[in-house]
Amino acid sequence: MNDPEISPAERAATLRQRLQHHAHRYYVLDAPEIPDAEYDRLFQELQAIEAAHPELLTADSPTQRVLGQLLPGFAPVRHAVAMLSIRTETDTEASGALAFDARVRRELELAEDAPPVEYAAELKFDGLAINLRYDRGVLVQAATRGDGETGEDVTQNIRTVNKIPLRLIGCDAPVLEVRGEVYLRRDDFERMNERQRERGEKTFVNPRNAAAGAVRQLDPAIAAQRPLSFFAYGLGEVQGWPVPATHSATLDALASMGVPVCTDRTVALGAAGLVQFHRAMGAERDALPFDIDGVVYKVNSLALQQRLGFVTREPRWAVAHKYPAQEQVTRLERIEIQVGRTGKLTPVAKLVPVFVGGTTVSNATLHNLFELRRKGVRIGDPVIVRRAGDVIPEVVGRVVDRTVDRTVDAPAGTPGPRSPYVPNFRFPRACPVCGSAVLREKASIAHCCTGGLFCAAQRKQAILHFASRRAMDVEGLGDKRVDQLVDSGLVRTLPDLYTLGPDQLAGLDRMGDKSADKLVEGLARSRQTTLPRFLYALGLRHVGEATARDLARHFGMLDRVMDASEAQLLAVNDVGPVVAHSIRTFFDQPHNREVVAQLRAAGITWPEGEGAAAAHQPQPLAGKTLVLTGSLPHLSRDAAKALIEAAGGKVAGSVSKKTSFVVAGEEAGSKLDRARELGLTVLDEPGLRALLAAPAAD
Ligand code: IVH
Repeated sequence: MNDPEISPAERAATLRQRLQHHAHRYYVLDAPEIPDAEYDRLFQELQAIEAAHPELLTADSPTQRVLGQLLPGFAPVRHAVAMLSIRTETDTEASGALAFDARVRRELELAEDAPPVEYAAELKFDGLAINLRYDRGVLVQAATRGDGETGEDVTQNIRTVNKIPLRLIGCDAPVLEVRGEVYLRRDDFERMNERQRERGEKTFVNPRNAAAGAVRQLDPAIAAQRPLSFFAYGLGEVQGWPVPATHSATLDALASMGVPVCTDRTVALGAAGLVQFHRAMGAERDALPFDIDGVVYKVNSLALQQRLGFVTREPRWAVAHKYPAQEQVTRLERIEIQVGRTGKLTPVAKLVPVFVGGTTVSNATLHNLFELRRKGVRIGDPVIVRRAGDVIPEVVGRVVDRTVDRTVDAPAGTPGPRSPYVPNFRFPRACPVCGSAVLREKASIAHCCTGGLFCAAQRKQAILHFASRRAMDVEGLGDKRVDQLVDSGLVRTLPDLYTLGPDQLAGLDRMGDKSADKLVEGLARSRQTTLPRFLYALGLRHVGEATARDLARHFGMLDRVMDASEAQLLAVNDVGPVVAHSIRTFFDQPHNREVVAQLRAAGITWPEGEGAAAAHQPQPLAGKTLVLTGSLPHLSRDAAKALIEAAGGKVAGSVSKKTSFVVAGEEAGSKLDRARELGLTVLDEPGLRALLAAPAAD
């Protein structure tokens, strides 16, 4: 940057060009290529050069105007009162607050011993600025900031945001413009991206981009599917409404009219109050349900705000005080594969450690192979890492370097843009933890280890599931106990459970004689089980209780299930190709067969043929579909379901024309309404019992 070969004039020109490019990507296309912090750095470098060499300043320098362009497609809206931006204090330490307070006091010509200035301190939401225009209390227009003078009319899309009131409570002022930030909560953002991932579609880089995309989405129906949120932080044009004397009272007034105002705000006294707020919110930041990139301080008194006025486009009475950026650039060194508790294989980026979102990050998720390909990241690339809140850090993309043409080094025949070339990384075919085959199911984007019972990564999860109430029902074997047993090395595989005796257990923390005995007894009791329970307990992918029961019923004996071909499995009620393939793959793994053999050797038994015998029990509900709603007086939902299924019926989650009966208990909701609409038979608990006892209709 201080290369003596490059003159300040050349550097300034380069910076302007780069900033223009990135501003267009950011504001117009909503597709940034670099993190904000990187943009800010370039911007500040240009500002510094221009300050040192005023002769280099040009009228079109990005430092000289508020950026943003109109997108074709939305009608322009001229703001009655310009939408300004605020100065940013990039110093993330306490000194940023001190500097602002000192400036305000100087501008107000306050004596050193004058009392502290009162500030309104609030959060700096990371979304998109919106002006909401209310005409006699009714929302008539919503506009983006645009270039500050003219924005875009996005009324249709904003109307779909449930949190924004269409009518103000108790306000019929001729004109009241409310300004604030449209944003996406982190959980809504994660869900949205999860859905995109499941569909194999492009994910959004961060909540802010997703929110901006939704607001400027030309199809309001699509905008409506994005769960946007809103917080007000100020006013625009006002006619016929008595504006309170302070900013904090203004926000209180807006809140009482039904406008969302964030409660994480305060009135702070002097620099010390600001520093305290900055610190307190910094500590809260990760726990907040939405992203913030800093806090905002505003002189609370509107009269003082007026005295302070503006410098070009920024008020002297407000400042944004940042926190460490939640996105940073670093280098991707390696890609490792991590096996989750459920057997899912996740590519994890090993990064050159970087300080992001307040901590040092050296691992970040790449989610799955398809997303990795779509993002086009390769080992050695500079990449953007995001860490916000408690969410696992992720690589959101690579930094685009236009000097490298990726198409050149891809060999002929390289697949098109849906699966770009990732030449220096290969997804493993065997689980890196246990060596079992890796399977990716049709229509799924996740690769999974098939070593279920054998794989160390899945051990705890497998044991917990095995011991659970509806599986082997081992009393005294919960979360903490399983952690202890596995971490101490006492249990490596499921059969190890049945070798445990009081002596071994005695050494464990918080394991008194009583609980040791209870666990040993629980294990002993679980040895006597049923085939459906045992099959379910093995934890095969896609084999839930119902499928386990169907398998037991159909084949009657475990060995027949284990040896059934996919075609034979397909003959089982409700078993489709994905389930059949999963069962076959599971029993094809020698480890899994060995675990089954060891469990049987440990004394686990069931009445062989019992499952098949069940088929000959009366099936009064064969072919019937029932829906349960509300709570029944004497039957839990699980119990009712079990009874219905034992009688050959099915339990569905929603009411349709195909529903045979609806069983309604107390506080039955919309399902009951729907049943009545469709004219279905509605039963109470005695009605259900009568049906269960009845002989089959045919
Ligand atoms: S006040 C004249 N308060 O930050 C002051 N802005 O450059 C106008 N922002 O794009 C802004 N949280 O959308 C204000 N609590 C807050 C804010 C906030 C986020 C955004 C705003 C604007 C940018 C300011």
